[in-house]
Amino acid sequence: MSDAIHIREMTQEDIDVVHEIEKETYSTAWTKDILTQEVVHNKHAFYAVVEWNDVVVGYAGMWVVFDDAQITTIAISPAFQGRKLGEQLFKHMLESAYTLGVQRLSLEVRVSNIVAQNMYRKFGLVPGGLRKGYYTDNNEDAIVMWVNIK
Ligand SMILES: CC(C)(COP(=O)(O)OP(=O)(O)OC[C@H]1O[C@@H](n2cnc3c(N)ncnc32)[C@H](O)[C@@H]1OP(=O)(O)O)[C@@H](O)C(=O)NCCC(=O)NCCS
Repeated sequence: MSDAIHIREMTQEDIDVVHEIEKETYSTAWTKDILTQEVVHNKHAFYAVVEWNDVVVGYAGMWVVFDDAQITTIAISPAFQGRKLGEQLFKHMLESAYTLGVQRLSLEVRVSNIVAQNMYRKFGLVPGGLRKGYYTDNNEDAIVMWVNIK
């Protein structure tokens, strides 16, 4: 049987499993309350999950304000990393942003996170600045990466 990959909008029902992935992948995990606020209440937020054989194994989000989008998070469960799921999910976010009329998409990434930076570069994102001490858990700098999509 070939692996079935499906990307769809995140709903409130996904929050428990997304929170588990969040804890597996980030040193400072978002709480369920933050996820609920984003997915249910934030009218500027767009969240998607990727399913592998009907199981949610990753998610991503962005804020869209006028023609500007900011990726807030993207994560694939560690057991499923390196299988092109992150790439497919990120492509989905870019395509969704394009459909929503976004002109410029940006995000912050840890200077040490070479894996994510490599993935973003594949989609044309380039470094545009540095936020010193942006990550409060270890005072790490963030690289701001961006791309014009229209
Ligand atoms: C970043 C992340 C979403 C990538 O998802 P993934 O499914 O593992 O990545 P993919 O298999 O789709 O690979 C996409 C690209 O990422 C890069 N990449 C993936 N694994 C890599 C590795 N071990 N070393 C270096 N680059 C790597 C490559 O550019 C790869 O493309 P290529 O295979 O053509 O070279 C995932 O590793 C993750 O969830 N990390 C933890 C959370 C995180 O750091 N999120 C980003 C916050 S800014």
